[in-house]
Amino acid sequence: MSKTFYITTPIFYPNAKPHIGHAYTITISDILARYHRLIGDDTYFLSGTDENTEKVAHAARELGEDPQTYLDDIVEQFKALYTNLNISNDQFIRTTDKNIHWPGAQELWRRLAVKGDIAKKSYSGLYCTGHETFLTEKDLVNGKCPDHDEKPELVEEENYFFNLSKYTEQIKQKIESDELHIIPKTRKNEILSLLSSGLEDISFSRPRDKMTSGIPVPGDETQKMYVWCDALSNYITALGFGRGEELMHYWPGMHVIGKDILRFHAAIWPGMLLSAGLPLPQAILVHGFITSGGRKMSKTLGNVIDPQELIDEYGADAVRYYLARHVSSFEDGDVTKESFKEAYNANLANGLGNLVARIMKMAESYLDNPVDVSTFRELSGVNNHTENFEFNRAMDNIWFHVKEMDEFIQTDKPFKLIKINKVAAQKRVTYYVQELNRIAVHLKPFLPETSEKIIKAISENKMPEALFPRKD
Ligand code: MSP
Repeated sequence: MSKTFYITTPIFYPNAKPHIGHAYTITISDILARYHRLIGDDTYFLSGTDENTEKVAHAARELGEDPQTYLDDIVEQFKALYTNLNISNDQFIRTTDKNIHWPGAQELWRRLAVKGDIAKKSYSGLYCTGHETFLTEKDLVNGKCPDHDEKPELVEEENYFFNLSKYTEQIKQKIESDELHIIPKTRKNEILSLLSSGLEDISFSRPRDKMTSGIPVPGDETQKMYVWCDALSNYITALGFGRGEELMHYWPGMHVIGKDILRFHAAIWPGMLLSAGLPLPQAILVHGFITSGGRKMSKTLGNVIDPQELIDEYGADAVRYYLARHVSSFEDGDVTKESFKEAYNANLANGLGNLVARIMKMAESYLDNPVDVSTFRELSGVNNHTENFEFNRAMDNIWFHVKEMDEFIQTDKPFKLIKINKVAAQKRVTYYVQELNRIAVHLKPFLPETSEKIIKAISENKMPEALFPRKD
């Protein structure tokens, strides 16, 4: 029986159109999903949007639009990005979906309540509307939220609380032993250090009238669920938790997240799962942030990179290429229009694209039949790096081979050899085509369209149209 592999992206806030940071998360998740399908794992890939949020209402209000129209429009833009980037997700979950999402979120709440881990308290705290979360004095800089540069509001209200503190030791032990594997190690250490200072119980609901949208708390119509049970639960509600469980055999799986939501996924979510008696995620891959020109992307700075614009100009695989190779999965990375174009011209137009054209042109003119590529050898390191989530290194290995092939052709000079020794020249070209096939097969999870085009060209023994036309 094949192994199952379940992979999720965070669910995105649809309060602005997707930017390159979102494209990064979904692209590396897609690479992993495609890789696991290729090695024969029964794979399920989930993504979606986090919609029960004041951020949406706020963004719609600023534009004077109706919140539902605004929401649907942004969600369409997210979905279009998935299609245009060739993302192979099996499901797109929306947390406003009352049929798919709500029954499971409410069932999870009930389980935690039955366990005795949810209690109502009167609460007073510092609420940051930007984060949609309560902050502690420790989080503030000069009395303000450092991320939003705003003073949080002192709010007093009745909330249900989840007894997260009770699970601190258990969570710590699971992370220490890698039963819950946090990647990379620096993030594992970061969360362990947070856990050693202890976890506080967390506010788990808000009064109904304080929230525009949200899932009602089971058994208490006056309260709505706060983000934790509302959003994190998507990873299992999508699998049918609370409504038939038809896909629950995929659980547990792995989460891909950005570094800003580590605590939610590696502390709060495991606590909820332990309380519910459900298995913890197997792994959490934590990636860095994408900056542009060395600065955080922001509308005011005008440096927000729109992945759709890059796709329109360069194609989906060029964007996938850049994100996989020129951004490290564990650290922050930078994307500018200039660096993108430079990498495109150097490594796709001149590198891979040129190599494919050279080899297939020779194959088409010197060989009578398509080359037999049925015997296949792995390119060393590529799969290992992919399994270690080092996509940039996997790509480096592939491009090292691209360069090597260029050099072989340079030395062999088959266009001269063909004139003096046809058989010898044909043998060399056959070898190049086999090596090109190796490259194409390894490219499948990364650049699926390009890989397919190369494989097709080989099978037809025909030079394809330029894969990556040079951009000036
Ligand atoms: N809705 C929450 C997640 C809930 S998951 C149960 C959220 N949404 S978000 O839209 O703000 O961010 C979604 C993901 O995008 C996060 O993993 C975040 O780290 C990532 N990124 C947001 N900006 C980013 C960059 N500039 N670069 C890379 N990733 C970035 O948080």
